[in-house]
Amino acid sequence: MKCRICLLALLLALLLSACSAEPPRIAFADIDFSLADAGSGEKLFSQSNGGAPACSACHALSQRDGVGNGLAGIANAAGGRVSGQSAAEYLYWSILRPGEHLVPGYADVMYAGYENSLEAADLADVIAYLLTLE
Ligand code: HEC
Repeated sequence: MKCRICLLALLLALLLSACSAEPPRIAFADIDFSLADAGSGEKLFSQSNGGAPACSACHALSQRDGVGNGLAGIANAAGGRVSGQSAAEYLYWSILRPGEHLVPGYADVMYAGYENSLEAADLADVIAYLLTLE
């Protein structure tokens, strides 16, 4: 029956699109850190932007854990998390593809839509801010 074939084709298309991970809209290489403003990053961290939840809803700035881990010391820890990734690069991937590398002991529940609410300059600012959390 025709419909059954259509349904099968649709299911296959859905499966394929779920499997092929698109690269982030903004490449790491396209972020200009020379213009980064950590003060603006601090604001972005603690406010909801473009309908996305505030980072601070899940992350404390101390060692205290919330839904996400406390981010005190992340500037020092980030560079050692994934081999081959600089601290800034790790933070970039943590924000845009949170499910790819999970902090041990934490569930894959970080909001995964920041790609749509943060522009390249915002990412530079947020990452610059995180790099001040020593
Ligand atoms: C809905 C809750 C939630 C929100 C909102 C959220 N996070 Fe997360 N985040 C998590 C959880 C849970 C983890 C640990 C699991 C993982 O690695 O994805 C995490 C992990 C991270 C890590 C890795 C930390 C480490 O120690 O390696 C960074 C960096 C981070 N988040 C930054 C951010 C930033 C920046 C924002 C805002 C743009 C944000 N998060 C918003 C829940 C959240």
